[in-house]
Amino acid sequence: MPELETAIGSVRLPNPVMTASGTVGHGAELARYLDYSELGAVVVKSLAPYEWAGNPPPRVHPISAGMINSVGLQGPGLPRWLDDELPELADSGARVVVSIWGRSLDDYAAAAEILARADHAALVAVEVNVSCPNLEDRGRMFSHSGAMTEAALAATAACGLPRWAKLSATGDLVDIAAAAVQGGADALTLINTLLGMVIDTEARQPLLGGGGGGVSGRAMGPVAVRAVYDVHAALPDVPIIGVGGVASGADAVEMLMAGACAVQVGTATFADPRAPAKVLRELARWCAAHGVSRLDELIGAAHE
Ligand code: FUM
Repeated sequence: MPELETAIGSVRLPNPVMTASGTVGHGAELARYLDYSELGAVVVKSLAPYEWAGNPPPRVHPISAGMINSVGLQGPGLPRWLDDELPELADSGARVVVSIWGRSLDDYAAAAEILARADHAALVAVEVNVSCPNLEDRGRMFSHSGAMTEAALAATAACGLPRWAKLSATGDLVDIAAAAVQGGADALTLINTLLGMVIDTEARQPLLGGGGGGVSGRAMGPVAVRAVYDVHAALPDVPIIGVGGVASGADAVEMLMAGACAVQVGTATFADPRAPAKVLRELARWCAAHGVSRLDELIGAAHE
């Protein structure tokens, strides 16, 4: 069997396949389909330091090559999540990455302080989501500005865990990525959903309750691979987790060759809750079939 262990900075994982934030809920709800302990890590849906109701329905809609969502970051808030959901996740054997978000720098700092007090062995990293497309004032999305991205990352320093910055594919992604690292990010999760919209032609208005939304799934695969490739070329020492359109072992191989040291499986899980395990199995099979004995033979291979 190929050795699939990977390192994302200081975080060592037994394999590079994780769930993507927002696609397996906040707790262990998919544990009856997926053995969470088999995956590299489980990334939970983003949490604010307080409960948040999210956007009005409809919130999700299928598109020809994926889906569009306007969930709006609904969640119980970190304090309740730590009490009610994390223990069950930990019992499942998952290595847990907690995704956090905020509407202000103070929110990010508050989330980090809550996590600093949490002291839970199952938590391996914090994914700092600065790129949700579904907040009411999208023009002020943190990851559209290098300075705001750096400030949001810096605000989370107190959490005491490795921090991964989740960014979206803006034109100046390399600069934003460098700003995230400047703010203290140990790794980058690339990329969040793409800004999109579907019009209900009968109603003559946007179909989703939140108006616009985030496009995910196969349609965004090449965009995500390009983002990973470009950022790896510019910042070769910064670990990257590739996400966007990963639904098979071959998709994971593409991300790794572009420069990612791990991948997240997202939208594919809505169609098949076992998708992350399938991607892991197919990746192992691909490596065996191609004589790859260690994952780092693949990471960044497309740059050589
Ligand atoms: O909850 C959300 O609105 C998440 C959206 C996204 O990242 O696409």
